[in-house]
Amino acid sequence: MSVLPTHLIRHTVLHGDCVEVMQRMTSGSVDFILTDPPYLCRYKSRIGQTIANDDRDGWVGPAFAEMYRLLKPDAFCVSFYGWNAVDKFVAAWRTTGFHLVGHIVFRKRYASATGYTESRHEQAYLLAKGRPELSGSPVPDVMDWEYTGNRLHPTQKPINVLRPLIEAFCPPDGQVLDPFCGSGSTLVAARLAGRCCVGIELETTHCHTAELRLNSQLHAGARKLAG
Ligand SMILES: C[S@@+](CC[C@H](N)C(=O)[O-])C[C@H]1O[C@@H](n2cnc3c(N)ncnc32)[C@H](O)[C@@H]1O
Repeated sequence: MSVLPTHLIRHTVLHGDCVEVMQRMTSGSVDFILTDPPYLCRYKSRIGQTIANDDRDGWVGPAFAEMYRLLKPDAFCVSFYGWNAVDKFVAAWRTTGFHLVGHIVFRKRYASATGYTESRHEQAYLLAKGRPELSGSPVPDVMDWEYTGNRLHPTQKPINVLRPLIEAFCPPDGQVLDPFCGSGSTLVAARLAGRCCVGIELETTHCHTAELRLNSQLHAGARKLAG
């Protein structure tokens, strides 16, 4: 199994199962993880699109164990999660060694689903490896959500929501990892925030979308530098 020197990888999308890919990466090499794993809710969009591994939970423990290993000491992970599988996610985070140090609710101006209640929020946990220093200006734990239209991915996250999380929890010259990167929204947000980024994605189509988005972001940055 060849080793991927994570500290030398910059602005890359890696294709494959994130548990297997992360096993090849160097321990303690990542400054911040921002990720949006399958919610374990058997998601189906209005036009029938599904999310890989959303119907099984065997990957949750191994994936977060690898994320924990890859993070530097005293660093953060922000993970979105499905509220109806909170027990599975929290159990994996605690078993792995993460401290649950914050919970962020993202308020939607629209209902993304309707059941006993209207679904008008997304949610993410702030997890810590070790004890990172407190910030002098902490971010609020309720934020506004933006609808992306899901044109690039069935559950595409808004860049304007991800970017402040990267700016708050990743050092200015740091490396961001998203092991479930989908269409690459975290990677685009990381580039806009001036951070390096590595994404991993299982599905070939989403992997290509993420590569295209990241490359066009990198070219835009290069054009700006060239004046
Ligand atoms: C909730 S979506 C992420 C969407 C992303 N935040 C965006 O804005 O496009 C989760 C992604 O994880 C991918 N995935 C599921 N299991 C995976 C695995 N074992 N390794 C890597 N990617 C995986 C799915 O294909 C899906 O694209």
